Amino acid sequence: MNQFILRTLPLLLALTVPALAASNSSGGAAIYQANCAACHGAKEQGGIGPALNNEVSGKDLAAQWSYAVFSRALLKGLDDHGRAFKAPMPIFGKVGFASAPHKAPTPAQMKALQAYLKTLK
Ligand code: HEC
Repeated sequence: MNQFILRTLPLLLALTVPALAASNSSGGAAIYQANCAACHGAKEQGGIGPALNNEVSGKDLAAQWSYAVFSRALLKGLDDHGRAFKAPMPIFGKVGFASAPHKAPTPAQMKALQAYLKTLK
């Protein structure tokens, strides 16, 4: 039994560690596609909601806003000046992400999402 574990452990680690790393870095992309893309566009180019990316809007909110401002925007529906967003921008602190309705997004989810938004320019 010990022999079996010793022989298979490196193989298990080799298989699971990259998979975990990949799921962490793609978490923000999945969150964006499931919760934001319908209104802000598959590549943040805008649609029902304003463009969030640099090229179209000339400003990159995700990159410029601190995590405190970004997370407040999601949780409370307030912009960087503390003004309430107009509908239909959801207040995710109330409606939750699609994966967990009515539960406030976690810091880890919001950090992953903001990190993903920064990659789209
Ligand atoms: C149902 C449509 C809809 C969805 C879904 C949505 N938004 Fe919005 N969003 C809007 C609208 C409309 C506005 C503009 C609100 C305003 O002008 O006050 C907006 C505004 C914003 C702003 C401020 C942009 C600016 O120029 O001030 C940010 C940042 C933002 N949304 C991020 C997100 C993120 C991140 C998600 C996903 C977690 C998301 N939104 C999901 C419709 C949506």
